[in-house]
Amino acid sequence: MLIARTREELAQSLAALRADGAGVALVPTMGALHDGHLSLVAQARAVCGHACASIFVNPTQFAPHEDFSRYPRDEAGDLAKLRAAGCDLAWLPGVADIYPAGDATVIEVTGPAQGWEGDRRPGHFRGVATVVAKLCGLARPDAAVFGEKDWQQLQVIRRMVGDLLLPVRVIGAPVVRESDGLAMSSRNRYLTPGERSIAPVVHATLAGVRAALARGVAAGDALADGEAALAGHGFSVDYLALVDGPTLLETKVVTPAARLIVAAKLGAVRLLDNIAAT
Ligand code: PAJ
Repeated sequence: MLIARTREELAQSLAALRADGAGVALVPTMGALHDGHLSLVAQARAVCGHACASIFVNPTQFAPHEDFSRYPRDEAGDLAKLRAAGCDLAWLPGVADIYPAGDATVIEVTGPAQGWEGDRRPGHFRGVATVVAKLCGLARPDAAVFGEKDWQQLQVIRRMVGDLLLPVRVIGAPVVRESDGLAMSSRNRYLTPGERSIAPVVHATLAGVRAALARGVAAGDALADGEAALAGHGFSVDYLALVDGPTLLETKVVTPAARLIVAAKLGAVRLLDNIAAT
C-alpha cells in the first residue's frame, strides 16, 4: 500500500496507480476505521480498480462543543486495517493542504442539507461539503464512495456534485452492521456495556416501523409507536421520521425511494441509523 502525506506524494502515488490504466476511487474517512469503512474500500476497488482512502479529521465539520479534539485517532491501526483490506493508497493530508492560509471559500448546500442533522448540527454539512470538494479537487478521483450509514450526508454530497458539475461519480454503499443489527460507528466505542446491549434497539425499531408500514399502519402511528419503543428503552429521541430518500423531505407516503431515519441518544452517545422504508 502506498502512503501519501504531502500533495507531491499524492500526485506521485496517483500517477503510479493510474499507470496500469485502471481508475481510482476515493474513500474519504476521518480514521478510527472499522469494517464499515473497509467495505467502502472493497467497493472502491470493485468499481474503479484502485482505492485511495483519505484519513483527515476535518476540523470545519465539528461545532465548538463537539468532539474534534477527542475524536479517536489511531494512525498505525488504521494503516494496518487499510493494508489488510487491500487499499492501494492511504492519503493523510495535513490541515494546511486542505485549508491553505487565507482560505475564504465554503460550500453551502441547501435542499437535502436542511433539517435533521442540518438543524441539530449547524454548519456541519458546510464543513463536510467543503472538505469533500477539496479532497476531490486534490485527488481527482473517477469516483468517490460514501456509506449509506450517513444517509443525509450522502444526499448532500450527491446534490453538491450534481450542482457544481464536478467530474466525479458518487457511489453509495450499504450500512455495515454488527451481528445484532447495530450500525457500525466510531462512536459505538463510547457505549458502556449496558448501553451496548440496548443499542441494537435502534435498528430493531426501524425494522418494526417498516413492518408496521407494510401492514398498512399509518406513518404517523407507526412512527409514534417507534418513538415510544425507543423512549421505553431509555433513548432520548432526536428524530424518527419517514422521508423521501434523495431530498430528505418528510413524507407520509411509502414509496420505493422513502427512507426511515433516526437519531437517538443513549447516555452520552448519539446514534444515527436509517433503512429503506420498503
Ligand atoms: P467517517 O465518519 O469517518 O465516515 C467515513 C465514511 O464511512 C462515510 O462515507 C460513512 O458514511 C461511512 N461509514 C461509516 N460507518 C459505516 C457503516 N457502518 N457502514 C457503511 N459505511 C459507513 O463521514 C465522514 O467520516 C466525514 O464526514 C467525511 C465524509 C470523511 C468528510 O470529512
